[in-house]
Amino acid sequence: MNTKETNIYETDELVGQYCDFQYGDEYFGVTNFAKACAHKAIEYSKNTPQKKALDLGCATGYASFELAKKFDYVDGIDYSQAFVNVGSEFQKAGRISYTQNGEGEIKNRKEVAIDDFGFGAVSDKVHFSQGDACALNPEFTEYDLIMATNLIDRLYQPHLFLKSIHERLNENGILVLTSPYTWKEEYTAKEFWVGGYADENGKEITTLNALIDMLGENFELVTTEDVPFVIRETPRKFQYTISQMSVWKKK
Ligand SMILES: C[S@@+](CC[C@H](N)C(=O)[O-])C[C@H]1O[C@@H](n2cnc3c(N)ncnc32)[C@H](O)[C@@H]1O
Repeated sequence: MNTKETNIYETDELVGQYCDFQYGDEYFGVTNFAKACAHKAIEYSKNTPQKKALDLGCATGYASFELAKKFDYVDGIDYSQAFVNVGSEFQKAGRISYTQNGEGEIKNRKEVAIDDFGFGAVSDKVHFSQGDACALNPEFTEYDLIMATNLIDRLYQPHLFLKSIHERLNENGILVLTSPYTWKEEYTAKEFWVGGYADENGKEITTLNALIDMLGENFELVTTEDVPFVIRETPRKFQYTISQMSVWKKK
């Protein structure tokens, strides 16, 4: 498990990269991922009361603010204190500045304002805090929607989150997961991977099938869809990834 000292999501490099991913420009015609996911989650949860939402692994907070355009109350929780500080700073100061990579050692300073995104009017509905998806405090409960985008393959023990998350949803509540299923031992010990391996009989276990096994007792799988995203590393290097969104309704 990553400690505060070894967690890459606490570094200035990743804070800058995620600020740019969430609040920066769009590339190659791909819609801002946090915005796309929040809009899809709002649509998939339209038959629930849409009062209280949780954005788990919220990073620098964009999707939490976007959800607050619809929901009355949104918790944005992330393991990285540096990431949730960005969301809180946005609320307090109405603007944030961050460092974007140029070529080599060149760094660009960028600044964005909360009203560039229409978040000013809803920002006080969002409550950011540092927390662990595998060991959430009991107060985080009674949600109509829980969204966890690109989180499961970054958890140290994803089953701790997946096996208990239904307890925090209201009746008919919606769970929205996305993941590119990039399992890596640096984040998740192999014994805890949710798919992405062959079992003792050589049968390949996909993450979606493993999720159906793990969540099936408490959720019905509503649908899946692909959601692309682009993360800018440098002016000439980008990660273009296809995440799979899976939408689950509490039984
Ligand atoms: C790949 S990023 C995804 C961020 C954002 N949800 C998105 O879709 O862009 C993974 C996020 O999960 C957070 N994270 C990792 N382990 C966590 C844990 N145990 N509890 C809560 N958040 C965690 C990281 O700090 C990081 O913000």
